[in-house]
Amino acid sequence: MSARRKFLQTLTHFGISIPFIKNSLLDRRVLPLAEKPVSLPIIICSRSEAWGRKVLEPAWNTLEQSGNILDAIEAGANVVELDPEDTSVGYGGLPNEEGIVSLDASIMYGPTHNCGSVAALEKIKTPSSVARLVMDRTDHMMLVGEGALRFAKAHGFREEDLLTEKARLIWLEWKENLSDRDDWFPPKDGKYLPRKRTTGTINVLGIDAKGDVAGITTTSGLFGKIPGRIGDSPIIGAGLYVDNRIGAAGATGRGEEVIRTCGSFYVVEKMLQGLSPQEACEAACQRIVEINGGLDTGDYDDKFVAVNKNGEVGCASIRGRKGQHPYVSIISNDGFKTIEGSALQWME
Ligand code: GLY
Repeated sequence: MSARRKFLQTLTHFGISIPFIKNSLLDRRVLPLAEKPVSLPIIICSRSEAWGRKVLEPAWNTLEQSGNILDAIEAGANVVELDPEDTSVGYGGLPNEEGIVSLDASIMYGPTHNCGSVAALEKIKTPSSVARLVMDRTDHMMLVGEGALRFAKAHGFREEDLLTEKARLIWLEWKENLSDRDDWFPPKDGKYLPRKRTTGTINVLGIDAKGDVAGITTTSGLFGKIPGRIGDSPIIGAGLYVDNRIGAAGATGRGEEVIRTCGSFYVVEKMLQGLSPQEACEAACQRIVEINGGLDTGDYDDKFVAVNKNGEVGCASIRGRKGQHPYVSIISNDGFKTIEGSALQWME
């Protein structure tokens, strides 16, 4: 019997509870912390302490000044989009196969259930702000490529070169490493070294004092992607989903897996069915493992963060590395904190 058939039979026999990964290290030690509710308003982001503070403190200040949760999460997302040091979001993000930085972002607002997104947007540093304008100023929900750029310029955004020197050098090393059968010589030291292709992203999710929910996901997407590739981040229901009755969820990691499981929608639907944010994030990770036929069939990784209207927060990834990943940062009237989430498999 093929491994895949055996796998499907196992699922049929046991329902969806995936005994399949019963031997994996599902580490729930952090659950009581992650589940502990905080008072509203609350804003969370899918980063550890340093970036968490950089993003959430301005977001919180904006919320205090304007009272507007959309302004707050946009201010937070803009911080990382504008920072050239972060190589996974906005300006300074790692480019596609051809060395061009191509950005994806989405925004969603609970009270109206409205949303906006941009995909494969070039030359604009803050795609989440363009996504917000798609939501607020058009009857559409998604603009891509050249049309998204023209729309941004119509709203006064300036075209800029998004490829920093740091990102260019990383790209060049990757390009020269790709093959010994093309016309690019190997890196100067002559050694071919496989470089891991990253898919960093950030989710910024918030709930205001009235209980209204909003979220943003923004990214430069998969490093070295084929030009035109769009990940999960700009796709509502995949990289981001908000339901004003329940809360919000966002995804980071390999976008293809999140798209084919409607990952963030799945998390919010699980919360609607009564799961805590932590349990819902874990369920979405497990779903991805199921459709891949197990943890050992590839080195894919995804992470979900979620918050519900009780101020409970969840964070789970498929693979974890102690002290490195996965984390969620939280800001509320109780202050700032960073929490380590759970992982289906802890790596060295
Ligand atoms: N999660 C980001 C991407 O895959 O593009």
